Formats: sequence, structure tokens, C-alpha cells
Amino acid sequence: MNVGAFSLSPAVLVAPMAGVTDLPFRETVHDFGRVWVEGEMVSANPDLLESNESERKIAFGDEPSPRIVQLLGAVPAWMNRAASFVEKCGADIIDINMGCPAKKICKTDCGSALMKNLPLADEIIRGVCGTVSVPVTLKMRTGWDSDHLNAPELARIAESAGVRLITVHGRTREQGYSGEAEYRTIRAIRSAVRIPVIANGDIDSPQKAASVLDFTGADGIMVGRGALGAPWLPGRISAYLETGVDPGEPSAQEKADTLFRHLKRHIDFYGEKNGIRSFRKHLLRYLERFPGGTEAFRPLSRLSNTSELVSGLSIFLKKAF
Ligand SMILES: Cc1cc2nc3c(=O)[nH]c(=O)nc-3n(C[C@H](O)[C@H](O)[C@H](O)COP(=O)(O)O)c2cc1C
Repeated sequence: MNVGAFSLSPAVLVAPMAGVTDLPFRETVHDFGRVWVEGEMVSANPDLLESNESERKIAFGDEPSPRIVQLLGAVPAWMNRAASFVEKCGADIIDINMGCPAKKICKTDCGSALMKNLPLADEIIRGVCGTVSVPVTLKMRTGWDSDHLNAPELARIAESAGVRLITVHGRTREQGYSGEAEYRTIRAIRSAVRIPVIANGDIDSPQKAASVLDFTGADGIMVGRGALGAPWLPGRISAYLETGVDPGEPSAQEKADTLFRHLKRHIDFYGEKNGIRSFRKHLLRYLERFPGGTEAFRPLSRLSNTSELVSGLSIFLKKAF
């Protein structure tokens, strides 16, 4: 699959996840294979764009290219300015968010609300594509609700406006994250456009990835929640799609090593106080994968200094092996 100067085969991408796909997480995913990992969404609102928080979200370190930054917004002029800003900061690909289902986001006409306003969606996409020289991609849902599965129409609009890749989460906005993702609409999008289409939603194993690719004819897949506490999964899926052989789950020791490596990167990035607090969501996801991990999470999540946390974790993990 090619997007501008970048190519990826097999095309395995990691979904943008606010509060999750920060630099330490992305680096940890990259340890396990060549996949693309999209950063957290960045608001195009000028009051937020040049904030410390956005700066943190647009930090790339030594991350391999392409560095993918997602923008959220519904005001064309703001989106153009934000696109130009993140391009200057080093983004290699700019993704536009038309999939976020959150009420407070949709209330401001952003995210999946744009699927209800295709003329505005078109204006935003054309504006961003005309402003930057890096490739622009689009992430969307299948539609607002089951009576309005208009993703194929938006995909055609996006293609003619200059978008170079489309990712589709196989749920409507109305579904949020409930129920099961469906892939028929993704298959319809695949035949509606010529640009690469990435299938997303509920892909949590190499075998599921292969069957979704087979059913949809998509050019690649995107993994979101399946990679929480399992940053090795995207690399494992990629290896399976490439060779037909599933390398399987890492050993308990490898999982523990990964947890510690991720924790160290996280604390180096955020500092000890904030880092230990914000790592809790990752910690729970890692620990859930060990017997007794959910029970161990509570006391471990109360620890507030690195050496206590590392030694508490070591004791738990030794017992869990
Ligand atoms: C914690 C979390 C944060 C998310 N943040 C974003 C985001 O910033 N931008 C976006 O387009 N989608 C976001 N999503 C949606 C995912 O990118 C993805 O489309 C969705 O989780 C479906 O894929 P999955 O079933 O593999 O998780 C988020 C999902 C989760 C669980």
C-alpha cells in the first residue's frame, strides 16, 4: 500500500486513541515490527492548538516515519491553519477525524457529526488538501446511524477532494463502541473508490485481521483496543499476514519486559508524578493479561514512586509466571 512517498506491506496500522497513542506507546509498538501508529487527535481550535498538551501530542522523538497526526475540527479556516502548523512541526501524514462519537465533540459539529454535513466535510477536506503538501487521509465511521450509512458517499467526496487513504470504523456514530463492527459497508467503500481503504473495528487477532481483509477486500487493517496492554499485537498481525505463520503471544517474560520498557519511556516522557498517574490505564490493561492481574492492579495503582512501583510489579510478575 502506498500513501504519498510511504509504503507499507502488509498494511497494519494502529488506531489513533486519545490518551493512549502517545510517543511512549507508539515507540513500544514499533519495537515489535513495521507498522504505522497514529498519534492522538489534536484539536484545530486555535486556543488549544499551540498549547503544551498539543505540543506533547505532536512530539515525535526518534519515531520512524510516517508520523501521522490526526486533526479534529469543523471550522475550515482553523483546520487549514492547524494542518499547516502540524506539517511545519514534522507531520508526514495528516489524518482528518470524522469518526469521533463523543457528545461534546459532536455538539461542536466535529468528528462523526461531519458525516451529517457532507458539504462542510467536503469544504474541510478540500481546504486541508489544498493547504499542505503532505498526504491527507480521512478516518470515519459507517454513518451517523443505521438509516444513514453514507460512508461510501463521503469516501467518494474525499477521494475527489484529494484524500489519499480512508479508514473506516465499522460502526455508526449511534452505536458508539457497542455491538459488533460490521464490514459490509467497508466492502462497499472498497468498491466505491480507488484510493487505499483500511478496515477498522474489533480486530484483535491475526486470524481476525486476515478474515476482515478477505471479506472486505480492504488494503489494510487498523487495530485499536486490541493493542491496549498488548503493544506486540500489531507486529504479530503483520508477521502473520506476511508469512502465514502466527508467531503467537509473547512469553510472560517478554510481556513483563515490555511493560517495564513502556513504563520507563512513559515516566521519562511525562515525569514521575504525572507519568505514574497516567500510566495506570496502561498498567491495568497489561495486568489483566496475567492471572490475578486485575486484583493486583488496585494496590499497585496506589503507588506513587517509580522504585516502589517497579518492585511491586516485579514481585507480582514473578508470582504470576
Ligand atoms: C481510548 C480510545 C481513544 C480513541 N481516540 C480516538 C481518536 O483520538 N481519534 C479517532 O479517530 N478515533 C479514536 N478512537 C477510536 C479508534 O481509533 C478506533 O476507531 C476504535 O476503537 C475501533 O477500533 P477497535 O475496535 O480496534 O478498538 C479511540 C478509541 C479508544 C478506545
